[in-house]
Amino acid sequence: MPFTIAIDGPAASGKGTIARALAARFGFHHLDTGLLYRATGAKGGDPIAAARSLTPEDMARDDLRSAEAGQAASKVAAIPEVRAALVAFQRDFARREPGAVLDGRDIGTVICPDAQLKLFVTASDQVRAARRAAELGADPAEMLAQLRERDARDSQREAAPLKPAADAILLDTSDLAIDKAVAVAVDLVLSARKST
Ligand code: DC
Repeated sequence: MPFTIAIDGPAASGKGTIARALAARFGFHHLDTGLLYRATGAKGGDPIAAARSLTPEDMARDDLRSAEAGQAASKVAAIPEVRAALVAFQRDFARREPGAVLDGRDIGTVICPDAQLKLFVTASDQVRAARRAAELGADPAEMLAQLRERDARDSQREAAPLKPAADAILLDTSDLAIDKAVAVAVDLVLSARKST
């Protein structure tokens, strides 16, 4: 049976970096599910039709990492039919052998409620804004305002809001260097693998 790791958390919490590092360390597949919503938003037109017709080319666009694409993604992600259109792809991905790491907002709660390990990665909004500003070469104050707007929309929406699963392990990276955060996550995977 494949081993599935669900990693959720707000933007710039470090979840993507941790997910990539775990996938590399354990030889697992990795899916950044935010890219599905970013590609849907970037495609334009009717978001439901866009989500239903996503192609690998849509996912490979080079403008998906921008702050604008993040805002557009957060808006289309609140539409239940958009989310429904993307569920099967994510669940199939989660079943890939020998294992898969998926990161997003609703992986532990909706997409993979039976994942063998669930992490909820957080950091203070100040720290997250500073990280995102450095990454995108943007103004930290502007990033903070955008992150707060996105967090509010992602956690207050009706459909699959951002929240930790009841059995998720919380990992706060505000004061942790990324290699420390990865080391903690690796230990959690090793113990979860022993007990499954
Ligand atoms: O992780 P990210 O910043 O690339 O995500 C962009 C937006 O997509 C995020 O603001 C909300 C949405 N999203 C979601 O609703 N569910 C997911 N599993 C992943 C992302």
